[in-house]
Amino acid sequence: MNLLEVEGLAAGYGQSQVLFDIGLAVAPGQCVTLLGRNGMGKTTTIKTIMGLLRPWGGVVRWKGRTVQGRPPHAMARLGLGLVPEGRQVFPNLTVRENLVATGRGGGSSHAWTLARVHALFPRLAERASNFGNQLSGGEQQMLAIGRALMTNPELLILDEATEGLSPLVRREIWLALRQIKAEGMAILVVDKNLAPLLELAERHHIVEKGQVAWSGSSEELRDQRSLMQRYLSA
Ligand SMILES: Nc1ncnc2c1ncn2[C@@H]1O[C@H](COP(=O)(O)OP(=O)(O)OP(=O)(O)O)[C@@H](O)[C@H]1O
Ligand SMILES: [Mg+2]
Repeated sequence: MNLLEVEGLAAGYGQSQVLFDIGLAVAPGQCVTLLGRNGMGKTTTIKTIMGLLRPWGGVVRWKGRTVQGRPPHAMARLGLGLVPEGRQVFPNLTVRENLVATGRGGGSSHAWTLARVHALFPRLAERASNFGNQLSGGEQQMLAIGRALMTNPELLILDEATEGLSPLVRREIWLALRQIKAEGMAILVVDKNLAPLLELAERHHIVEKGQVAWSGSSEELRDQRSLMQRYLSA
């Protein structure tokens, strides 16, 4: 059974419709992407799935259960962990406090703890007593990922996983995501760097004007240069 299924999702802001027909599915342990140029509706899709935006139509299913329209805290409790666009770490909390503030013990022995997050991102251990607003962009992104992991999600959703980061830090983030995935986590990721996503993810969805214009596997996407030029070049 799929963890997450989205069908015919529609949403917008005020009177202006942004999403028209978004469909996607994430199976347990799978990594799935949302691709597409600026302003096509990727963030709006994620916000609507997470309950930050009210759906106008369509269905969101979690483990087969219809859940669209539930508030964000309810979606988090179901097992969706969000790393939002712009990271949004708490500036006036220390790194440790940022991590502990959202911590929610999972039942299993594989539960994410402060120690496991520190092992994944040693930099966060070094910076534990620094405040959120004293961190570099890369450190903030590590913290945002660590914070989402501390909620012990079954699906990790990342909106712009590596935006604005140096190549070196980006590499660190991709390595961490690979490690997280290897441990069985399902991941839904938005990013503009296609090469690492072709390696990490099994399935891709290209969003064009609020609709999924194309979806397919990494192999299919790799073979279709024209697709990339049409939908992905800025
Ligand atoms: N809060 C808002 N109020 C009104 N319109 C919005 C709001 N947020 C986004 N939009 C509009 O919705 C459309 C889709 O935006 P969205 O942020 O979902 O795109 P995106 O694919 O995530 O883009 P990017 O790659 O730049 O992050 C755009 O036309 C944008 O201007
Ligand atoms: Mg966006």
